[in-house]
Amino acid sequence: MKKLFALLALASVTQFAAAADLVGNVKAAENKVAMCIGCHAIPGYKTVYPEVYMVPMLGGQSAKYIENALKAYRKGDRKHKTMQGIAGSLSDQDIADLAAYYSQQK
Ligand code: HEC
Repeated sequence: MKKLFALLALASVTQFAAAADLVGNVKAAENKVAMCIGCHAIPGYKTVYPEVYMVPMLGGQSAKYIENALKAYRKGDRKHKTMQGIAGSLSDQDIADLAAYYSQQK
C-alpha cells in the first residue's frame, strides 16, 4: 500500500513537470530530423562519418543545450544564416522534440 502511494505521488510530480515545460517527443522528432541530417549526421543512425562539413555534432548533447542553441538562433542571438533560417521555422514543440531526440543519441 505504501508503495502504491509512492507511485501515485511520483506520477503527479511528473505530470506537474510536464505542464511546466514542453516535453520533447522523440517519436515525433523522427519526422523532423530529416532537415537536419544532411548537415548534422547522426552517429549511431548510420555508420557514416560522425561529422559532415565541420558541423557541430548534436547526438548526445544535453536537451537543454540544444534547446537553448535553437532558441538563440531563432531569436538572432546566435548568428549563423542557415541555422537562423532553420530555427526560425521551428515551433517550441519542434525544438523540444528535436532536443529530446538528439540528447538520446549516443
Ligand atoms: C545547411 C546545413 C545545416 C542544417 C540543414 C542544419 N544545421 Fe544546425 N548547424 C549548422 C552549422 C554550420 C552550425 C554551426 C553554426 C555556428 O557556428 O553557429 C549548426 C549549429 C547547430 C546547433 C548548435 C550546436 C552547438 O554545438 O552549438 C544546433 C543545436 C543545431 N545546429 C541544430 C540543428 C537542427 C535541430 C537542425 C534541423 C532542424 C539543423 N541544425 C539543421 C548547419 C546546419
